[in-house]
Amino acid sequence: MSRYARVIGTGGYLPEKVLTNAQISLMVDTSDSWIHERTGIKSRRIAADHESASSMAEIAARQAIDAAQIAPEDIDLIIVATGTPDRVYPSTGCLLQKRLGIKNGVAFDVQAACSGSIFGISIADQYIKSGAAQTVLVVGAEICSRIVDWTDRSTCVLFGDGAGAVLLQACEEAGVLSTHIHSDGEFDDLLYCPNPQAATEAGKDEAGYIAMRGNEVFKVAVNTLGRIVDETLEANAMDKASIDWLVPHQANIRIIAATAKKLKMSMEQVVVTLETQGNTSSASVLLAFNEAVRDGRIQRGQVVLLEAFGAGFTWGSALIRY
Ligand code: COA
Repeated sequence: MSRYARVIGTGGYLPEKVLTNAQISLMVDTSDSWIHERTGIKSRRIAADHESASSMAEIAARQAIDAAQIAPEDIDLIIVATGTPDRVYPSTGCLLQKRLGIKNGVAFDVQAACSGSIFGISIADQYIKSGAAQTVLVVGAEICSRIVDWTDRSTCVLFGDGAGAVLLQACEEAGVLSTHIHSDGEFDDLLYCPNPQAATEAGKDEAGYIAMRGNEVFKVAVNTLGRIVDETLEANAMDKASIDWLVPHQANIRIIAATAKKLKMSMEQVVVTLETQGNTSSASVLLAFNEAVRDGRIQRGQVVLLEAFGAGFTWGSALIRY
């Protein structure tokens, strides 16, 4: 008997506060037209002071639990993808486990920057297929606004806060058709966020803010995402026309459009949340997936390609029959 992971519920949370491009243009030398033309972003959400990755993760997770009509105790593995954990330790996964009142199973974090939720889905899939877990909660939760330098116009316009969740459960029918994850640490200097409490080799006193060489990241992202699309289709002996929906990481509308073009997909088949959310790092793919499931665009039985690219570099895809 085959054993697959199947999506049984999704959830998402966005903080209340909206920060528009116009408001950012009062803080740094930029404009709504520059940001919108170069990135596709018009506004993003910013977490309140009392919010944290785990508090946002809890709201997204509870939505997914409600949608799946299961009890929190049915979850035997929690994976939280975050680059902005509440604490260095315990993991945000453990903090979420406590918030959900779950005493059994295991919880941990995965750190793969913007690719985190795809890495999480891939790990969940392996655990379920092997029989090591039955019901897995994957959450991407980020408060990017706390690691952004609000005086740096090249990065502060790009990011936003939020959390997305997906519940996967063992099933005899696929489900997750395949996942593909990769990393190449060679590019660590193009996109990183220093830990201000750790000494660097160079002994520099760096602030804990995102640093990025945007133009170079852009080129690698477009090429790499093109390759992951080919790899995913080949692994499933599928052609481009078999994919109903593309749910991409939301970093830049031009990167998203390049991947859609590669797939010969119209933008109507691409889930885009970037305009009002910005780049929410590991939360972005799951927030977009949740939105399109809830508004009825993604229907049961359809084939959905989720993909992401992030610091590391890390990149990956998950092909799912919803
Ligand atoms: N407002 C106005 N001008 C800005 C600006 C802003 N917010 N940010 C940068 N600029 C300026 C630069 O200073 C530069 O000016 P110069 O030509 O006088 O030197 C000019 O705009 C072009 O900068 P460049 O970085 O080449 O622009 P770009 O077209 O590559 O767009 C990004 C910048 C960041 C939007 C784009 O490179 C990008 O999206 N990269 C990928 C980022 C990404 O995906 N990151 C996350 C991966 S998970």
